[in-house]
Amino acid sequence: MDAVIAPSILSADFARLGEEVDAVLRGGADWVHFDVMDNHYVPNLTIGPLVCEALRKAGVTAPIDVHLMVSPVDPIVVDFAKVGATYISFHPEASQHPHRTVQLIRSLGCRPGLVFNPATPLDWLDHLIDDLDLVLIMSVNPGFGGQKFIPQALAKLAAARARIEASGRPVRLEIDGGVKVDNAAQIARAGADAFVAGSAIFGSGDYAATIAAMRAQIDVGRRSAG
Ligand code: DX5
Ligand code: ZN
Repeated sequence: MDAVIAPSILSADFARLGEEVDAVLRGGADWVHFDVMDNHYVPNLTIGPLVCEALRKAGVTAPIDVHLMVSPVDPIVVDFAKVGATYISFHPEASQHPHRTVQLIRSLGCRPGLVFNPATPLDWLDHLIDDLDLVLIMSVNPGFGGQKFIPQALAKLAAARARIEASGRPVRLEIDGGVKVDNAAQIARAGADAFVAGSAIFGSGDYAATIAAMRAQIDVGRRSAG
């Protein structure tokens, strides 16, 4: 699968969100990463389905990669499916019945993803991987942009990659948190094929140049992984 770059709009200028999303997509981004926080499951509060709907109404056609950091999960899944989410990922600890949540996301025509916090074991995949389209490894604790990449995420990516290969299914492996141009090659080498980056992209002066530089580093990493 080709690598995809998904700027996290958590680090965008919310007063000009539509322009910001257009700018990163024009600059070569593949997906829009949409962080949903509820001040309950995580200690921060962000954006919900209305904002997703507004982006779709403004003409955004790129995949919207919704990352739910909320509890309960299921009611908001229904709301996001209605307003054009593409991927919907959630944290298994936040759902009473993770398999039911996966089924719900799929039944609404969206692509289910499961998110692993730094301390969350990959064991959740034992009985869920056959129903997933995406595995998201957190390389920071969820809640805020601009945190430092936790290096243990690299070994976890490699372990998740092995599980995906063993499943034989086309499951995306995404990394989220502290992703920069400088570490993109080693992250790609560890097996990621979807790269969320918030502050690295929106905090840079030239979105297109940063996305191009990140993609070049990803290519370097993928080539060296063979
Ligand atoms: C953190 C979010 C991330 C965050 C990444 O809870 O899930 O998507 O925006 O931001 P950076 O790339 O700045 O670490
Ligand atoms: Zn995220």
